[in-house]
Amino acid sequence: MDTPTIKSFKLRGTRITAAQEAARARLWGTYGIDVSPRSLSLEAVFPGLNQLIVEIGFGMGEATVEIAKSFPETGFLAIDVHQPGIGKLLSAIEENGISNIRVMDEDAHVILQNMIADSSVDGVHLFFPDPWPKTRHHKRRIVNENFIELVASKLKKGGTIHMATDWVPYAKSMKERMDRSPLFAGGIVPRPTWRPLTRFEGQGIRKDHEVTDLVYTKI
Ligand SMILES: C[S@@+](CC[C@H](N)C(=O)[O-])C[C@H]1O[C@@H](n2cnc3c(N)ncnc32)[C@H](O)[C@@H]1O
Repeated sequence: MDTPTIKSFKLRGTRITAAQEAARARLWGTYGIDVSPRSLSLEAVFPGLNQLIVEIGFGMGEATVEIAKSFPETGFLAIDVHQPGIGKLLSAIEENGISNIRVMDEDAHVILQNMIADSSVDGVHLFFPDPWPKTRHHKRRIVNENFIELVASKLKKGGTIHMATDWVPYAKSMKERMDRSPLFAGGIVPRPTWRPLTRFEGQGIRKDHEVTDLVYTKI
């Protein structure tokens, strides 16, 4: 699969603070992973941990930190292109003394395709992906057939993708596409207690948006 030319993110309008920029300059070497054409070795990135979760689009990373604290035996590869969030997450990792998160700054399609070995991932977290509500923008939604196939190829058999959205039409579209895929089984689930409220979710709830969690297992 080629990297999609239509991006699922928009980089305009994101102002990085001096503190976030400084955090990036100081901490990237410790907690960041550069993009390269080589596959990542889980053992090299997370020595001693045997579970790998890839989070796509961590935003400001608050939920990432909370989840990583709850599951210290799991390695979390946190991917986003949102520069303020990258600085913020790097600071939070240091402040909380967290050893099981590594951060990557690139389109998740590129990372999955080039740096993640097939059948090597235990779980994918996709929490509140940009909903792209306008019909003319639906083509930007990350959950489409190509993405579903890409994720399936990287998950181990029995691995899961957990998606959450506060945009009901997107939840419906995710469900329809996942249900159609012969690679997955699953559906809508109650919100798990371990999933903290994310920043984007909080904004949706304040607008009375209904939140849907969906979990699908690779079969
Ligand atoms: C609506 S925000 C949600 C952030 C966070 N999960 C939350 O719930 O607060 C979606 C995030 O996904 C990121 N994103 C969208 N497409 C992406 C892609 N292809 N690769 C990496 N990050 C992506 C955006 O930069 C943005 O930070």
